Amino acid sequence: EATRTQLGYARDIEEMIKTLPQHTCSWLKGKSTLFKYQDFWSYEEIIKEVVLAQQSLKAHPTDVFLCSYPKSGTTWLKALVFAIITREKFDESNSPLLTTMPHNCIPFLEVELEQTIASQGNSSFVATHLPYNSLPKSILASNCKMVYIYRNVKDVIVSYYHMAREAVKLPMEDAPFEEAFDEFYHGFSVYGPHWDHILGYWKASMERREIIFFLKYEDLKKEPSINVKKLAEFIGYPFTIEEEKAGVIESIIKLCSFENLSNLEVNKNGYANEMIENRLFFRKAKDEDWKNYFTDEMIEKIDNLIYEKLGAIGLVL
Ligand code: A3P
Repeated sequence: EATRTQLGYARDIEEMIKTLPQHTCSWLKGKSTLFKYQDFWSYEEIIKEVVLAQQSLKAHPTDVFLCSYPKSGTTWLKALVFAIITREKFDESNSPLLTTMPHNCIPFLEVELEQTIASQGNSSFVATHLPYNSLPKSILASNCKMVYIYRNVKDVIVSYYHMAREAVKLPMEDAPFEEAFDEFYHGFSVYGPHWDHILGYWKASMERREIIFFLKYEDLKKEPSINVKKLAEFIGYPFTIEEEKAGVIESIIKLCSFENLSNLEVNKNGYANEMIENRLFFRKAKDEDWKNYFTDEMIEKIDNLIYEKLGAIGLVL
């Protein structure tokens, strides 16, 4: 509580939130209300932390930010980065990843703000779902490196659908996918609209190529070695020739694979916080699972929208 006061936690943030546009998600049976802060939607609790982060974060030039729209491979990216940066101390036999959920290995800026601030000045790795334009200004001013992971929008929607309904304990029969799709399509999703999120980072990366690294979930799956090597180089932990020869890259890929992580006790039965079970972050990890959910009409609608929003930048989702 003292730290919160020091951080400038004040009633006026709560007052400010009351003035924001609100949206109650009908497909979640009114169990979830989003607020529009700056240009994105999120939960009240998160927005409070975002405001504090924007006011108080003093990023260090060596901090690296792992950025993503939710359900785009954040957990996987955190695991890989953690394994890369700790590889001198740990390997697949004793890594903390065997007993700790990846989200608890690298903090989220807007969820674990105090932890993030405490680790600053320490070349810290921090994750965030914040849109580029809402990042605390000191991150931009310090020229911090950012890794942006993104994924096929249709798979993101399906993954989001399951996470959002599981978070409020709604079975599938009570949460029609068509309605969830419709809301997402209209931009009502946590940290949404999704396409604006991608566009924000993409535009920034055009001007700041050397500090924003775009990584596609599907590419990481298709060519893990090449992409993990590039990732390690980008974050300043390149593999040596000896390490490559010794198969260190492959061991890290195996340690962080869905098959391995999703079968660990901590990820099967643990809790990320009071509400969310760790297993929810390890659902299926199948490409094109969307084919089991989308009607032809939905495919056409979302394809047209993505083309309209992102066609010009030529990003294939
Ligand atoms: P599905 O819901 O399609 O299964 P995030 O980590 O951003 O919340 O994204 C979650 C998605 O990434 C889920 O997709 C999850 O199964 C998948 N995922 C989690 N860990 C993974 C891993 N180690 N490798 C590949 N995909 C993973």
